[in-house]
Amino acid sequence: MPDTKKTFDSISKNYDLINQLISFGLHKKWKNDFINLINFHGEVIDLATGTGDIAISIKEKFPDVKVVGYDPSSMMLEIAKKKNSDNTICFKKGFCEEMPFLDSSFNFATITFGIRNTKSIANSLSEIKRVLKKDGVLMIMEFSKSENFLIKNLYNIYLNYIIPFIGFLFSKYDEYKYLANSIESFYSKDEMNLVLSKSGFTVNKNVQYNFGLVTIYIATKS
Ligand SMILES: C[S@@+](CC[C@H](N)C(=O)[O-])C[C@H]1O[C@@H](n2cnc3c(N)ncnc32)[C@H](O)[C@@H]1O
Repeated sequence: MPDTKKTFDSISKNYDLINQLISFGLHKKWKNDFINLINFHGEVIDLATGTGDIAISIKEKFPDVKVVGYDPSSMMLEIAKKKNSDNTICFKKGFCEEMPFLDSSFNFATITFGIRNTKSIANSLSEIKRVLKKDGVLMIMEFSKSENFLIKNLYNIYLNYIIPFIGFLFSKYDEYKYLANSIESFYSKDEMNLVLSKSGFTVNKNVQYNFGLVTIYIATKS
């Protein structure tokens, strides 16, 4: 696994644009649906916040909520801070596996397209559990494997050729090849549900998009 902090620092400048291209604009809809699934209140941490889309949308929709955006890439965070021009969100630098927050600090933890990039999913989930309050909610959105044979094969072409090619157009072939590989090797919905329950979460709901290629997990600290 490459140094993900360096990888994301290196792609930060065109991250939002390339995201638009490789998802055919769909990531905005998925993110919009994601924040509309929950009535956020209290304190929220958006982990692997990247350029801050989720943190910013939560703050815009729920202005009374205290939002922290957390990510190890200083260059992704710089862009997030620029997008949050009224400085209403507290952005902090760091890895999910080791967080500088007290136990039971947050009512909600969100993480979109970030959990698969962590060095250790188990350690990250254990830390997330620690910083969530009792009955705190974890919301994850991540790519997932489709069980459909045709979709699986078409998706392999997309991951192995189209995503790296778009990366190549922006002189970031290796970085987007790594991202595509990390999608290809990530869990199916059922496998991820099992990982969550083994890590001390009760999965309450799954929502899937694009023939099961994107899955939302809503889980509570059990
Ligand atoms: C694909 S981006 C997703 C960004 C954003 N959440 C989104 O949906 O657009 C993955 C993010 O995970 C961050 N990341 C990588 N390793 C991490 C770790 N161990 N802990 C927390 N964040 C990490 C990267 O810096 C990057 O910003």
